[in-house]
Amino acid sequence: MNIILLAPPGAGKGTQARHLVDTRDMVQLSTGDMLRDAKSSGSEMGLKVAEVMARGDLVTDDIVIGLIREKLSEPNAGGFIFDGFPRTLGQAVALDVLLKECGQSLASVIEMKVDDVALVARITGRSTCASCGEVYHDITKPQPADGKCVNCAGTEFSRRADDNAESLRQRLMEYYKKTSPLLGYYFAHDKLVSVDGLASIDKVQSEIANILN
Ligand code: AP5
Repeated sequence: MNIILLAPPGAGKGTQARHLVDTRDMVQLSTGDMLRDAKSSGSEMGLKVAEVMARGDLVTDDIVIGLIREKLSEPNAGGFIFDGFPRTLGQAVALDVLLKECGQSLASVIEMKVDDVALVARITGRSTCASCGEVYHDITKPQPADGKCVNCAGTEFSRRADDNAESLRQRLMEYYKKTSPLLGYYFAHDKLVSVDGLASIDKVQSEIANILN
């Protein structure tokens, strides 16, 4: 079963995707993570996109579609979770074509509704385990008191270069201009379902489970 998590920056897409990977053997395809990996590897493409990402702009469609195309041929026991992709109409149409080419389809597009004030609080409080990527939040999911990641016992935590007020403003502008029209696209394709992303992490998990079951 392949699904898309469609929501603005900081809505909780990564948090929910990791839970689905752990509980349903699904494969998370996060274009943001792929681009950050390319940046850390120092590849030509990674260096090219680093500045774009830090500003909060979208990377070009051809780059992200290329990244997804490479992954679709890999094993996906429980299905793919598209996290942060597609983000433009061009990417959505390309995904339809790519899935059709490999004989697959989309089960649901899950919109996570969160208001802008909450998004700012979530993004500015976020930190991540440098070893395994477990996501924390200063208020709602603080790093453990013993300084060890709950998932891998790693002791280093990092904050993203684009998790600042200025980049976030631009990320939100990009979302409303280029990504939010996809809500209409998937509604018209009868794929859209919405959950209350303002609820607790556990509550959102169970709402998503109800949709998938
Ligand atoms: P990307 O990495 O995809 O970032 P994003 O969409 O901005 O989303 P985030 O990862 O910031 O947030 P999230 O929704 O995963 O929230 P999280 O679970 O961490 O993209 C980064 C950049 O890469 C883009 O700006 C662009 O430049 C480029 N890019 C990527 N894909 C692209 C594409 N397809 N096309 C073009 N460019 C692309 O949660 C956030 C915080 O909230 C955490 O601290 C978490 O603990 C907390 N939290 C989560 N859920 C809850 C809850 N229910 N209650 C309370 N707190 C919660």
